Amino acid sequence: MLRTIFFCVAALSTFTTAVWAELNCTAVPISLAVANSTLSSGVKRRGVAVTLGTPPQKFSLTVAATYNNTYFQEGPVTKENCPMDADTPAARCITLKGGVFDRDASFTWLPQTKQSFRGSSQDFNTVLDTFDRGQEVLSTSEFNLTNYPVGLLSKYTGDAAAHGMLGLSLNSTLLETLVAEGKISSNSWALDYGWSGYDSTWVDGALTLGGYDKSRFQGDLYPQDFSIQSNGQVDQECALKVTIESMVMTNSSGSVDLLPGGKSEAKLACVTPNYPLITLPGTMFDIFNQNMNGKYSDDKRSVGAFYLWGFVDSGTPYALCFQFI
Ligand SMILES: *[C@@H]1O[C@H](CO)[C@@H](O)[C@H](O)[C@H]1NC(C)=O
Ligand SMILES: *[C@@H]1O[C@H](CO)[C@@H](O)[C@H](O)[C@H]1NC(C)=O
Ligand SMILES: *[C@@H]1O[C@H](CO)[C@@H](O)[C@H](O)[C@H]1NC(C)=O
Ligand SMILES: *[C@@H]1O[C@H](CO)[C@@H](O)[C@H](O)[C@H]1NC(C)=O
Ligand SMILES: *[C@@H]1O[C@H](CO)[C@@H](O)[C@H](O)[C@H]1NC(C)=O
Ligand SMILES: *[C@@H]1O[C@H](CO)[C@@H](O)[C@H](O)[C@H]1NC(C)=O
Repeated sequence: MLRTIFFCVAALSTFTTAVWAELNCTAVPISLAVANSTLSSGVKRRGVAVTLGTPPQKFSLTVAATYNNTYFQEGPVTKENCPMDADTPAARCITLKGGVFDRDASFTWLPQTKQSFRGSSQDFNTVLDTFDRGQEVLSTSEFNLTNYPVGLLSKYTGDAAAHGMLGLSLNSTLLETLVAEGKISSNSWALDYGWSGYDSTWVDGALTLGGYDKSRFQGDLYPQDFSIQSNGQVDQECALKVTIESMVMTNSSGSVDLLPGGKSEAKLACVTPNYPLITLPGTMFDIFNQNMNGKYSDDKRSVGAFYLWGFVDSGTPYALCFQFI
């Protein structure tokens, strides 16, 4: 269960640039709900609802900080592009992928070559291997884009991050397209994931494009650039880094801090909204598990409704890994 708000100014903008959209009302920021939407399988999934193609096919996308393009899983569901077996029937694969796109069922699909593609060509490098390119009609509750460049994940990979996502990195095709069409004023975005979790009252989040929503955070805004590697590229593994000094877990008999040492034990955490697994360093997992009365002692992996964006803890193997869906 997590309520996280992250504001991200693409490129090396200053704080002044970040609030510019607020001062200039010619194109106000766009807000898209981060909420449950129903996929073609009839299953609900939390994410940003978009449709692709004509007639429209339904998707629920995550937000990715290390990709520029907008990606969809290629469909229809087959053994090649979805892991269809007894554990993962088609409906589950469709949910995991945030929907699968059937290009043959759309009459507005325009295939593109690597050369003619107007999106980013270098996006995929080591993380996800291949993608096909095309142009399609992309719609949300707030805008319609025609001839919008999208990537299709043409092969199944076991990577948990390989699913439909809105790439909002430095040269995001979505942000650049919206700015070019005058629909937003700046290449910036903010994400409030909302609140989700087992038995709790869900609160919808919001993805704000071209600015941020003041009502969705408390305190002062802290602008932060993407993490850049020495070669000038955005850090593919972790573009958005935060330091966590305290993480309070509450069970029915009390509360405990998973980082009892406070500042002296501060951990670097990675904000990767497109990676749907929780991972915690071993020491934190052990305290967590004590408060769960040792429930996860076996393989330290379980499936349950608990969610946190991936932690980075160099040297320590992932100790806890809950699957979100
Ligand atoms: C990508 O973004 C950077 C930073 O804003 C900019 O300098 C560069 O020209 C962009 N690249 C492309 C291909 O648009
Ligand atoms: C607002 O944006 C428009 C269009 O980009 C620009 O022409 C105008 O000068 C801006 N106004 C202010 C006050 O920044
Ligand atoms: C997008 O296009 C559809 C179909 O033409 C239309 O019904 C809808 O109002 C449009 N949405 C926006 C936000 O312009
Ligand atoms: C969203 O969907 C999940 C899974 O179907 C469900 O558990 C949850 O209650 C739903 N939340 C809302 C607010 O509809
Ligand atoms: C696309 O995104 C990556 C990773 O965030 C970045 O390093 C790269 O420069 C971008 N590609 C282009 C063509 O702008
Ligand atoms: C809550 O955690 C404490 C340890 O911190 C444990 O003794 C207690 O049994 C836990 N309660 C439940 C209901 O799991």
